[in-house]
Amino acid sequence: RKPVSLPRLADMHARGEKIAMLTAYDATFAAMADAAGVDCILVGDSLGMVCQGLPSTVGVTLETMRYHTESVSRGLHRVQGTTWLIADLPFGSYQQSREQALASATVLLQAGAHMIKLEGGGWTTDTVRFLVDRGIPICAHLGLTPQTVHALGGYRVQGRGDSAARLREEALALQDAGATMLVLEMVPAELSAQLTLELPHCATIGIGAGKGTAGQVLVMHDMLGINLGKNPKFVRNFMEGAGGVREAMEAYVRAVKDGSFPVDAQHAW
Ligand code: KIV
Ligand code: NA
Repeated sequence: RKPVSLPRLADMHARGEKIAMLTAYDATFAAMADAAGVDCILVGDSLGMVCQGLPSTVGVTLETMRYHTESVSRGLHRVQGTTWLIADLPFGSYQQSREQALASATVLLQAGAHMIKLEGGGWTTDTVRFLVDRGIPICAHLGLTPQTVHALGGYRVQGRGDSAARLREEALALQDAGATMLVLEMVPAELSAQLTLELPHCATIGIGAGKGTAGQVLVMHDMLGINLGKNPKFVRNFMEGAGGVREAMEAYVRAVKDGSFPVDAQHAW
């Protein structure tokens, strides 16, 4: 398989081939995801909860993101991986100024990331343009943005009713600023499907956002059934019926590509 690149992702979006993304936080799981044919790996700051046992992603530091990004990148290099590697800027590493965002993004790019993700709309538009102008591929993130969970009042659906128009404006501005990917987390399926059509240059990646997006992402531990708590409704455990982790990841990629994941019943919003 040829390496996944920005033009290749744009082509997938244009042709309507669904983009399959999973999170990974270490070398071995990254290599497994690559072998399973995942298009993109996200070193998400969800690692704060999954790996570090933090109560939210707010406490994750840039140094921790650098460490895990480097581990994942080494894992991919070891198997001559072809997967596109995205890393999250953690809370506090990009809010201060565009210059701070550039310095933080540089740390993650030097650790091996190909693309940088940051949360929020409105004020982030300038930062995104600043980074894109300097040659950094950017993934934005709207809807439920876990770094601001306290301000949002909990892990709940976003972009309902009146707030849909604002989310749409923010998304269009982010595409205008040069963001080429946009994670939509827990937003109504109708809204994310509409945005996907309105953003030809920015591939929407949904999580709890219905099936109308250009791609899907799940936290790897969730889709492997590796957790004690109750999964969010939008998660499917792909280990059920699979012979192992590799098979489960392959089933996930297949299900995203053929549109059988997610199903409508997985988002009542
Ligand atoms: O940190 C993360 O894993 C994420 C995804 C859930 C989109 O941001
Ligand atoms: Na994240």
